This record gives sequence, C-alpha cells and structure tokens, in this order.
Amino acid sequence: MCGLVGYVGERPALPIVLEGLRRMEYRGYDSAGVAVIVDGKLQWAKKKGRLEVLEAELQTVDWPSGVGIGHSRWASHGEPSDINAHPHSDCNGHFMIVHNGIIENFRELRAELEAKGHRFSSQTDTEVVPHLVEELYAGNLEQAFLGAVKRLRGAFALILVSDLHPDRVLAYRQSSPLVVGLGDNGNFVASDIPALLPYTREVYLLEDGELAVVTAHEVRVMADGKEVEKEVFHVDWDPLAAEKGGYEHFMLKEIHEQPQAVLATAAAYLNENSVNLAELGLTEQAARSMQKLTIVACGTSYHAGLVGKYVIEDLARLPVEVDIASEFRYRKPVLKEGDIVLVISQSGETADTLAALREAKRLGARVWAITNVLGSSVAREADAVLPTFAGPEIAVASTKAYTTQLVVLTLIAIHLAQLRGTASNEELAALVAAVHNLPALLEEPLQQQDRLQQLAKTLTTHEDIFFIGRGLDFAGSLEAALKLKEISYIHAEALAAGELKHGTLALITQGTPVVCLLTQSQLREKMESSIEEVAARGGEIFLFDTMGDGELERLANWRLPLSPVHPVLGPVLAIIPLQMLAYFVALERGCDVDKPRNLAKSVTIE
Ligand code: M6R
Repeated sequence: MCGLVGYVGERPALPIVLEGLRRMEYRGYDSAGVAVIVDGKLQWAKKKGRLEVLEAELQTVDWPSGVGIGHSRWASHGEPSDINAHPHSDCNGHFMIVHNGIIENFRELRAELEAKGHRFSSQTDTEVVPHLVEELYAGNLEQAFLGAVKRLRGAFALILVSDLHPDRVLAYRQSSPLVVGLGDNGNFVASDIPALLPYTREVYLLEDGELAVVTAHEVRVMADGKEVEKEVFHVDWDPLAAEKGGYEHFMLKEIHEQPQAVLATAAAYLNENSVNLAELGLTEQAARSMQKLTIVACGTSYHAGLVGKYVIEDLARLPVEVDIASEFRYRKPVLKEGDIVLVISQSGETADTLAALREAKRLGARVWAITNVLGSSVAREADAVLPTFAGPEIAVASTKAYTTQLVVLTLIAIHLAQLRGTASNEELAALVAAVHNLPALLEEPLQQQDRLQQLAKTLTTHEDIFFIGRGLDFAGSLEAALKLKEISYIHAEALAAGELKHGTLALITQGTPVVCLLTQSQLREKMESSIEEVAARGGEIFLFDTMGDGELERLANWRLPLSPVHPVLGPVLAIIPLQMLAYFVALERGCDVDKPRNLAKSVTIE
C-alpha cells in the first residue's frame, strides 16, 4: 500500500523524504508527492507516475528546510493522477496530510464539509482530513488533528504538517502501520522500517489510537489524552539487506538469498536432532487433545499454508483447515475457546490477515503466527510468534518468505507429530536431517539460470500457461502460477493434475504449455498418467522433477531434473527454478519485475 514518510530536524528534509520514499516504493508506485515548509510557508509537488517523475520535477527547487513529509501512492479512491496524488491540503494550504488506508465514511464527511464551504480538488477519501483539521483548528494543532481523527471510520495512518506550527510533524495510527525513528538532531516517521535504515535503528512502533508529536529534539506519544511511555525497538537488520546488492532486481537477489534464509530460519528452531518450538507452549496433553488446526493467510502465505496442511495432516494426523483471510472473517468460522489458529504473513501487516487474527481471538482461539517482520502488528497481537529469518523482502513477488514459511511449517508438523506420537522417531529424524541438508540443496537450481533464461524466451509469447501437480506439488503449482502471473501478466492457472480431465483438459490443444511438478515419488505413476493425457492433446510439457532417473525424459518436451529430496521438502526445492522462470519471463516481456502493475507489497487495506 502507500508509503508515508516525515522528517523534522536540522538536516534538509527533502532529500531524506525522497530517499525514504525510494526505499518504500514497493508499497505503492502510481504517484508520489512531498510537502516541505520553506520560509514559513508550505510548498509541495506531486506527480502521477513513478518517483523518478517527481524527482525530475524537483530538480530545480531550492527547499533547504528541515520539515517535510512525502507519499508514494497505491490508488484506492480516485485514479492515479497529479491531483489525486498526496499530500492533500485544506482550502488555504496550511495543513497537509499524507495517508495510507481507507476512510470509509469520507462521502458523508465530504458532503458535510462542502456544505460548510470547503472546496475539494481531488477524488480521494484522504482530502477530507486536512479540511476537517482546518474546520476544527483553533490554535492547537494536536487538538484539531485528534478531533479530525475522531470523526474518521476505517483504517488509516496519517502524517500531518502545518506551516502554522513549523517545528513539528504529527502522526496517527489506526490499523495501518507507522513507525517513529529516533535520530540525532532530527526525528522521523514512516510507514515501514526500510525508509529509516540509513538514519537510525532505534524506533517506536506506534499502536492503534496513538498520536506521535515529533519535533527535532523530542518525540511525545499520546493515547486517550495521556502521554504513553514507549519502549525503544532496536532494528537489527543489516541495512544492506534492504539494498539490491549488485543484482538487477530485488526479486533476483531475494531468490538467491534463499539458501541463507532457509539456513537462518532452520537454525533458529533446530538443534542437532530435535526441533525446539517451546514458544508455542504446547504440552503433550494439549497437542494430543487438539481436534484441528486452522491456518489463515493471503496470497503466497496462503499457498504456504496449503503445503502446511498436507505436511501436518500427514505427520501429525491432525485435520488442518486452510482459509483465505478475506473469506475467514465473513464466513462465520466454527471455532471454539482454546482452538488454535495459525496466521501466516510475511509483512505482518496484511489487513485481511490481521482482521482474521482479531476475529479468531474474539472467538476465543489461541493464535500462533509465522511472520517475517518482528514488531509487526501480527507479531504483536499473536499469542505466540515464530519468526522467519528471511531478512527484508522488498520485491512485491514473495520468494524467500515463502520458502522460509515452508520450513517453519515443516518444523511445526514435526513438533506436533512428536508430541502426539503419530510418527516414528526414525521418520522424524530423517526429516530433521533433510532440513539440515536443505540449504545446500537449494544452491543447485540457482545454477540453472542459463537454461531457465532460454526456456523463458520460448514461453514469453504465450498468453495462457497451465501448472499441474499432485499432493504437495499441487500446492506448489498454485504458488508457481501466482509468481508467473503477478510479474509477467501471463494468465497462469494451477490445478491438481487429477482434476484436468474434469474440465480444464478442454483448453489443452497443440502447443499449450503445461508446467508439471513432480517431487512426490509415491504419486509418480499417477502424475505420469496426467502428463500422458496432456501430451495426447498436443500440450507441451515442461517438467520439473526430483525423481533422480532419466526415465521421464521421453515424457517431456523440456525437463529440469532436480536433486532427489525428502518429499516433504519437495515444494521448497521445486519452487526456486519456477520463481526464476517467472522472473526471466517477466524480464523478456519488459515488465517491471519488482513493482508489478496494480500491486503493492504490503496490502494494508481490506
Ligand atoms: O505479507 P503477507 O504474507 O501477509 O502478504 C500476503 C500477500 O499479499 C502476498 O503473499 C502476495 O500474494 C504476494 N504478492 C505474492 O507474491
């Protein structure tokens, strides 16, 4: 969603604000804008398009001031345009606001304000806020801002600057993330930590209902009219981890980081021969009395949940329901006091997932969370948190978060199986050993870049590509298809191979590309039959398998043999060349790989 940034201090604000926006462009990139107080007056610039367009516009300005805010937008209300770009202002240009989220009651507020004579210029929901502040302002900026916020319904993070109070920026959080960065001779506000990394590692994580009053030498946080004592959160990321590090795109870098990310995640929970998930606080008795586990997530994290279902049901003999978070909340889920809900979210800020988490808690469930962002809303609100150690994931297309989520899910399955006594020690020890060996194995597909690049050239002109697999490979196919479609804009559809003949086979004709995944040896024969069915209709077979023999050669038009791996970990290995394939197809088609159209990294609106 949108990226927000604010600075007040002794350094010129404009370069800091622009750099912050550059580091958060993955949150939204259809327009950008800034406002800076220069010689006691608010100046602003906003442009449709990428940040570069705004930067070009700003090249000739001389704005030395130390107070400014900025915004990169993912349009929700009103098309991307110069006028709809943020910041938005009141009638007289004294109050400027940047906003992330949705103000649900903006229509009624706008009508009310227009009736009082306020003139609006944009189609956005945001513009009601500066007009509300203008309406309520009687000399005290904090009071007017809080009064305005009280009138809003929805989810929002807001940053306000005013030339009537040029020493401060105000920030307010309601269900959309905001962090305050604590610097020397200057302080910051942003919607995400990467914006702050060049300047500080010490932050306050704002909670819902908190107002931050930020000046050059002081940050005060208020809630319910009282000052709040905030704890400083130390960000221990390597700042270079949020840079491209010589790669052309974040996505390629993040694909290559997977062996290391998987190693770090496994190491956090694995001893030599055993799994340590004490954080879950599960006793043998509690594990044995569990009736089901509900997994809730969106997008790639949902696909990880689907893999988790197969693995947990197989090893721990525990029924697992996997729900799309946006469905879960509105379908009256059947949960009782003490049931366990596992939410999965790379960002920890996805609004649908957060809403599902809250609904689960409201129904009395205990919530476990797998997230990549410590300090995120999901991490803070869950009862138990199992972090993935993938490091910052910047590309919109999720890669290393997915593979590390699969590792944590595998370890949860082992832990549950141990406590419930549903798998033998030998079986579990073999899987633990396989997890230890996994990082080395993941290096292999990364060496296949040239072959995958060649394959990408042949797929690039197609408009429909199918992905099939069985069991865990069906779940893996769903993720592979999502990767391809979101960054290359080729229609990609994944299905359980056995389902082909129930309808979709009608679409397979001469030359239709069908990507086949085969990492589950017990399903090999069944999968071979499905592949034969496709071949008989002239479909072109692109096979990714871990079967370790040459016999499948005759079935495929193109084949990438992968090293044999424990079947539970097959999806972790197989997704890597498929992520690379999606990447190279997108490159061939001239797509903006890291910032696909219409999408944003962290979806903080419902
Ligand atoms: O941060 P989350 O894991 O909660 O995000 C969920 C989805 O928005 C995300 O996985 C999305 O589907 C990615 N763009 C997929 O690559």
